[in-house]
Amino acid sequence: MQKFVQYMPTKIVFGKDAEKEAGKLAKEFGFSRVLLVYGGGSVVRSGLLGRIKASLDGEGIVFQELSGVQPNPRLSLAREGVKRAIDFQAELILAVGGGSVIDTAKAVAVGAANPETDIWDVWMGKASVTEAKPVGAVLTISAAGSEMSDSAVLTNAETGKKAGFNSDIVRPKFALMNPELTYTLPKYQLSCGIVDILMHTLERYFTPVSGNQLTDEIAEGLMRTVIKNGKIAYENQEDYDAMSEIMWCGSLSHNNLTGLGRPKDFACHKLGHEIGGMFDEAHGATLSAVWGSWARYVYKLDAARFARFGRNVWKIEDKGEEETAVLAIEATEEFFRFLHMPTCIGEMKIGVLSDDALRKMADSATKGDTVKLGCFKKLGAQEMYEIYKAANHE
Ligand code: NZQ
Ligand code: ZN
Repeated sequence: MQKFVQYMPTKIVFGKDAEKEAGKLAKEFGFSRVLLVYGGGSVVRSGLLGRIKASLDGEGIVFQELSGVQPNPRLSLAREGVKRAIDFQAELILAVGGGSVIDTAKAVAVGAANPETDIWDVWMGKASVTEAKPVGAVLTISAAGSEMSDSAVLTNAETGKKAGFNSDIVRPKFALMNPELTYTLPKYQLSCGIVDILMHTLERYFTPVSGNQLTDEIAEGLMRTVIKNGKIAYENQEDYDAMSEIMWCGSLSHNNLTGLGRPKDFACHKLGHEIGGMFDEAHGATLSAVWGSWARYVYKLDAARFARFGRNVWKIEDKGEEETAVLAIEATEEFFRFLHMPTCIGEMKIGVLSDDALRKMADSATKGDTVKLGCFKKLGAQEMYEIYKAANHE
């Protein structure tokens, strides 16, 4: 087991009516001025925003709003939020939504605590910060895991660059998680979320470091749970137990519990972020579209690991390392198909891309071939291009 630090500062309130605790929690943490951040309107239509406001009002907490966060959240709106948070002297940035909303709240939190620094410089690694305003989250979609993660991903629409910032300073202080809030998700977003949850553990499971028995068992248990309940939820989105399991898997899959004691890979996320940044595709879809190509490109480096994944997660009968490994990759893709998720680039809205676009994405992901991505196999621009190319069909 490699040396690790695990930091889980987020207080979780999980279950029916959890959102009604918003005011109480904000008060408990000592906040009396809140900037509410939300997306394109689902929380208004569902009545959730009204319940949150009533809960804040009930505790005498004053608030302002920042609405209009889009999936692949834009830097421009986050910058606007920074100004609003500073003007309002917000003490808590409260996200009501999914990963895009929470990540915008995190960006606002960083910007508001560092008014002299442009947030994109922080996201590009050109400026460093040590402080952020506190963030809270009312989760409406099980997917990105941002409610417990140290990460926030923004898209600069002017350059088409999608990039993440990772620091413990943006881990939320609390998250309110009511699985019933996810009943209204469009089926496509439900599927995207299930893929993302599975991927957050896959990206931690396939690494060159072995000898982490507990981490492996937790990872495999989480993957079996999200697969089993993902199938149930896809058929019946109002199955409370299934939606609960998925929601909790989403948080634990990306708070690093399933990767302790070994490095993370995350090459597929880098492949996916380029597609999301340049073509505005949903995050989960960009992952399912490239994972199979990545897996076939790398599995021979450790076919035994892929075979173990097949036996322990997909319950595939052992047919020898090579064959079991390939069956495991196929089973994963079959699950993506069950969820109506793409397993190649041509199955996404954007369709098959030009060779030039693939080269540009590979180049951008590797910062002009100056950094290698992933750790299961370290990938430079040429390797990233080859994986894109393998995925670039109908
Ligand atoms: O904007 P509204 O109207 O709210 O609609 C949203 C949005 O269109 C809708 N939605 C959310 N909850 C709903 C709902 N519709 C009906 N009922 C509900 N209960 O779903 C759509 C997608 O929302 P979004 O927040 O984009 O989803 P998700 O949670 O998948 O977040 C994706 C973003 O998170 C980033 C991704 O790259 C992407 O930008 N990630 C963030 C991570 C992190 N911070 O740790 C890690 C991830 O790997 C990921 O990169
Ligand atoms: Zn993800």
